[in-house]
Amino acid sequence: MITTVTLNVSLDKAYRINTVVESGKVIRVSSCNNTAGGKGLNVSRVVDICGEKVLATGFVGGNIGNLVEELLEKDNIDNKFVHVKSETRNCINILDENNISTEFLESGEMIYDNEVEKFISEFDKIIDLSDVITISGSIPKGVPIDIYSTLIKMIKEKGKKVILDTSNQPLKEGIKALPTMIKPNSEEIEMLLGLSISNKTELLESAVNLHKKGIELVVVSLGKDGALLVCDEGIYHGKPPKLEVVNTVGCGDSMVAAFAVGLSRGYSYKECLKYAVSISAANAMSLSTGSFEKETAEEIYNNVEIKDIDFNIE
Ligand SMILES: Nc1ncnc2c1ncn2[C@@H]1O[C@H](COP(=O)(O)OP(=O)(O)OP(=O)(O)O)[C@@H](O)[C@H]1O
Ligand SMILES: [Mg+2]
Repeated sequence: MITTVTLNVSLDKAYRINTVVESGKVIRVSSCNNTAGGKGLNVSRVVDICGEKVLATGFVGGNIGNLVEELLEKDNIDNKFVHVKSETRNCINILDENNISTEFLESGEMIYDNEVEKFISEFDKIIDLSDVITISGSIPKGVPIDIYSTLIKMIKEKGKKVILDTSNQPLKEGIKALPTMIKPNSEEIEMLLGLSISNKTELLESAVNLHKKGIELVVVSLGKDGALLVCDEGIYHGKPPKLEVVNTVGCGDSMVAAFAVGLSRGYSYKECLKYAVSISAANAMSLSTGSFEKETAEEIYNNVEIKDIDFNIE
């Protein structure tokens, strides 16, 4: 089973309006679509479409938290959240008549110490049931900034695999516990290493250095250019074919999900890369976030190019 950790769950509300966003105006919403949000929940949906068993965990609270659970149940995603005192946040995405999107992201309410302790003790039991665990997104207020490090240590002690996909301080702190895999984009790598990267060689060097620190798989995602993978088996570049892109939100999450699936099925790392590039690229062709058509992914898979990169790893 694959477990996804989402500490900062949200109810994602997609508003469609027949006008443009103008401050000081009353704007009527023509349709509203609610989804269970937070990056880890996108991962959950993609794992489910891939056909693997998935369990979503994290914190939810109040009526919004209950609605998130209901939405997951509708999608047949098993979940086991710790219920907290604070209400789960809303994130609003407004799509205007010109298909331009404006987002309002709440940061998430306070989580209390006893709630964090409860999560850690429940999580310990969940690890035993999981093969691969993904940890995604931001950390809500009140939760220690090094929580991901704590969780990664617990997972590794039990010999399970863990993928960390976050940014800023949570990423800096999290990698200290050496997760099995990280999937930064170029911006996140720059932030992590505190440098500005101007070409592919520098990007490769940075990824190799992170791998040398003890992260088994360093995957750097490059949007339409696919992804680089640095691992003991070698260095590879996976490139999708040119596609009709409709929505790239959740592409990173789809890539994480597909790697989790590949690792749990025992694919070689190179095979995991090919699979993950095709699933994430198929997500870019789907209107809904954290979703893809199986046939589209299969077609892309047959056209993904995997190149060995000759780069001195010593
Ligand atoms: N325009 C695109 N065309 C084809 N594939 C894409 C495109 N954008 C993203 N992908 C696929 O999705 C993967 C992850 O995308 P990206 O590098 O944008 O991740 P990210 O920045 O982490 O995104 P997220 O916003 O989901 O966190 C890429 O490695 C690629 O395989
Ligand atoms: Mg990302």
